Amino acid sequence: MTPSSGPAMSVPSPGLPEAPQRRRSLVAALATLAALACLLLVLVVLPAARSDPYTRQTLELTGSAADGGRLFRLNCAGCHGLAAQGLVGPNLHGVERRKNDRQLIQQVVSGRTPPMPSFQPEPQAMADLLAFLHSLP
Ligand code: HEC
Repeated sequence: MTPSSGPAMSVPSPGLPEAPQRRRSLVAALATLAALACLLLVLVVLPAARSDPYTRQTLELTGSAADGGRLFRLNCAGCHGLAAQGLVGPNLHGVERRKNDRQLIQQVVSGRTPPMPSFQPEPQAMADLLAFLHSLP
Protein backbone atom coordinates (compact mmCIF):
# COMPACT_ATOMS: atom_id res chain seq x y z
CA MET A 1 0.00 0.00 0.00
CA THR A 2 1.23 3.44 -0.76
CA PRO A 3 0.80 5.85 2.12
CA SER A 4 -0.83 8.59 0.10
CA SER A 5 -2.44 9.81 3.24
CA GLY A 6 -2.70 13.51 2.50
CA PRO A 7 -5.17 14.01 -0.30
CA ALA A 8 -6.69 10.50 0.08
CA MET A 9 -7.81 11.22 3.62
CA SER A 10 -9.31 14.56 2.91
CA VAL A 11 -11.58 13.18 0.23
CA PRO A 12 -14.10 11.30 2.40
CA SER A 13 -14.63 14.11 4.86
CA PRO A 14 -13.44 17.47 3.59
CA GLY A 15 -14.85 19.16 6.64
CA LEU A 16 -12.65 17.36 9.16
CA PRO A 17 -9.23 18.98 8.66
CA GLU A 18 -10.82 22.38 8.99
CA ALA A 19 -12.25 21.68 12.44
CA PRO A 20 -8.97 21.98 14.40
CA GLN A 21 -8.16 25.04 12.33
CA ARG A 22 -11.41 26.63 13.36
CA ARG A 23 -10.81 25.64 16.99
CA ARG A 24 -7.37 27.19 16.86
CA SER A 25 -8.68 30.49 15.59
CA LEU A 26 -11.37 30.40 18.25
CA VAL A 27 -8.68 29.92 20.88
CA ALA A 28 -6.68 32.75 19.35
CA ALA A 29 -9.74 34.99 19.42
CA LEU A 30 -10.45 34.10 23.04
CA ALA A 31 -6.82 34.71 23.99
CA THR A 32 -6.93 38.12 22.31
CA LEU A 33 -10.16 38.92 24.12
CA ALA A 34 -8.66 37.86 27.45
CA ALA A 35 -5.57 39.97 26.79
CA LEU A 36 -7.75 42.99 25.99
CA ALA A 37 -9.79 42.40 29.13
CA CYS A 38 -6.60 42.33 31.22
CA LEU A 39 -5.37 45.51 29.59
CA LEU A 40 -8.68 47.22 30.30
CA LEU A 41 -8.53 46.04 33.92
CA VAL A 42 -5.00 47.30 34.44
CA LEU A 43 -5.40 50.62 32.61
CA VAL A 44 -8.95 51.63 33.50
CA VAL A 45 -10.63 49.66 36.26
CA LEU A 46 -7.81 49.32 38.80
CA PRO A 47 -6.71 52.98 38.80
CA ALA A 48 -10.34 54.04 39.26
CA ALA A 49 -10.84 51.57 42.08
CA ARG A 50 -7.57 52.59 43.69
CA SER A 51 -8.69 56.17 44.20
CA ASP A 52 -10.82 56.31 47.30
CA PRO A 53 -13.81 58.69 47.64
CA TYR A 54 -11.62 61.35 49.29
CA THR A 55 -9.12 61.33 46.43
CA ARG A 56 -11.86 61.30 43.82
CA GLN A 57 -13.66 64.19 45.48
CA THR A 58 -10.42 66.18 45.75
CA LEU A 59 -9.54 65.64 42.10
CA GLU A 60 -12.97 66.89 41.00
CA LEU A 61 -12.42 70.25 42.73
CA THR A 62 -10.59 73.23 41.33
CA GLY A 63 -7.88 74.40 43.70
CA SER A 64 -6.63 77.88 44.39
CA ALA A 65 -2.86 78.19 44.38
CA ALA A 66 -3.08 81.31 46.58
CA ASP A 67 -5.10 79.53 49.27
CA GLY A 68 -2.83 76.50 48.89
CA GLY A 69 0.18 78.74 49.43
CA ARG A 70 -1.30 80.02 52.69
CA LEU A 71 -1.93 76.45 53.87
CA PHE A 72 1.56 75.51 52.82
CA ARG A 73 3.20 78.32 54.79
CA LEU A 74 1.21 77.31 57.90
CA ASN A 75 1.58 73.52 57.71
CA CYS A 76 4.44 72.56 55.45
CA ALA A 77 6.98 75.36 55.27
CA GLY A 78 8.56 74.38 58.60
CA CYS A 79 9.95 71.30 56.91
CA HIS A 80 9.94 72.13 53.22
CA GLY A 81 10.98 75.78 53.52
CA LEU A 82 8.93 78.94 52.97
CA ALA A 83 9.68 78.83 49.26
CA ALA A 84 9.37 75.02 49.16
CA GLN A 85 13.10 75.01 48.50
CA GLY A 86 13.69 72.10 50.89
CA LEU A 87 14.81 71.96 54.51
CA VAL A 88 14.10 68.83 56.58
CA GLY A 89 11.82 67.71 53.76
CA PRO A 90 12.84 67.75 50.12
CA ASN A 91 12.63 70.62 47.66
CA LEU A 92 9.15 70.48 46.13
CA HIS A 93 9.83 72.39 42.92
CA GLY A 94 8.93 70.12 40.03
CA VAL A 95 7.52 67.48 42.39
CA GLU A 96 4.57 67.11 40.01
CA ARG A 97 6.98 65.57 37.51
CA ARG A 98 7.95 62.91 40.05
CA LYS A 99 4.52 62.22 41.51
CA ASN A 100 1.05 62.40 40.00
CA ASP A 101 -1.87 63.98 41.84
CA ARG A 102 -2.96 60.70 43.44
CA GLN A 103 0.54 60.13 44.78
CA LEU A 104 0.78 63.71 46.03
CA ILE A 105 -2.50 63.30 47.90
CA GLN A 106 -1.25 60.01 49.36
CA GLN A 107 1.97 61.72 50.40
CA VAL A 108 0.04 64.35 52.34
CA VAL A 109 -2.64 62.19 53.96
CA SER A 110 -0.94 58.85 54.52
CA GLY A 111 1.82 59.60 57.02
CA ARG A 112 3.71 56.74 55.42
CA THR A 113 7.03 58.61 55.26
CA PRO A 114 7.93 59.91 58.72
CA PRO A 115 8.87 62.45 59.89
CA MET A 116 6.26 63.94 57.55
CA PRO A 117 3.02 63.64 59.50
CA SER A 118 -0.35 62.56 58.18
CA PHE A 119 -2.51 65.58 57.36
CA GLN A 120 -6.30 65.48 57.06
CA PRO A 121 -7.14 68.50 54.92
CA GLU A 122 -10.70 68.98 53.67
CA PRO A 123 -10.93 68.03 49.99
CA GLN A 124 -11.01 71.72 49.01
CA ALA A 125 -7.88 72.43 51.08
CA MET A 126 -6.16 69.42 49.51
CA ALA A 127 -7.14 70.67 46.05
CA ASP A 128 -5.68 74.08 46.98
CA LEU A 129 -2.43 72.44 48.11
CA LEU A 130 -2.26 70.54 44.82
CA ALA A 131 -2.80 73.76 42.89
CA PHE A 132 0.01 75.35 44.91
CA LEU A 133 2.38 72.45 44.26
CA HIS A 134 1.57 72.68 40.54
CA SER A 135 2.28 76.41 40.61
CA LEU A 136 5.86 75.85 41.82
CA PRO A 137 8.24 76.35 38.90
C1 HEC B 1 7.74 67.30 59.88
C2 HEC B 1 8.26 67.67 58.59
C3 HEC B 1 7.32 67.75 57.40
C4 HEC B 1 6.14 68.45 57.28
C5 HEC B 1 5.45 69.32 58.32
C6 HEC B 1 5.69 68.25 55.93
N1 HEC B 1 6.57 67.45 55.27
FE1 HEC B 1 6.38 66.83 53.34
N2 HEC B 1 8.02 65.67 53.56
C7 HEC B 1 8.81 65.62 54.67
C8 HEC B 1 9.87 64.64 54.46
C9 HEC B 1 10.96 64.26 55.44
C10 HEC B 1 9.65 64.12 53.17
C11 HEC B 1 10.47 63.04 52.46
C12 HEC B 1 9.76 61.74 52.77
C13 HEC B 1 10.40 60.55 52.09
O1 HEC B 1 10.14 60.37 50.88
O2 HEC B 1 11.12 59.82 52.76
C14 HEC B 1 8.51 64.80 52.62
C15 HEC B 1 8.02 64.59 51.36
C16 HEC B 1 7.01 65.33 50.77
C17 HEC B 1 6.59 65.22 49.40
C18 HEC B 1 7.18 64.29 48.35
C19 HEC B 1 8.43 64.92 47.81
C20 HEC B 1 9.08 64.10 46.71
O3 HEC B 1 10.15 64.52 46.28
O4 HEC B 1 8.55 63.07 46.31
C21 HEC B 1 5.59 66.11 49.22
C22 HEC B 1 4.82 66.38 47.93
C23 HEC B 1 5.37 66.77 50.48
N3 HEC B 1 6.24 66.26 51.40
C24 HEC B 1 4.42 67.73 50.68
C25 HEC B 1 4.13 68.26 51.92
C26 HEC B 1 3.01 69.13 52.16
C27 HEC B 1 2.04 69.63 51.11
C28 HEC B 1 3.02 69.41 53.49
C29 HEC B 1 2.03 70.24 54.26
C30 HEC B 1 0.66 69.88 54.17
C31 HEC B 1 4.16 68.73 54.07
N4 HEC B 1 4.81 68.04 53.10
C32 HEC B 1 4.53 68.80 55.40
C33 HEC B 1 8.67 66.34 55.84
C34 HEC B 1 7.57 67.12 56.12
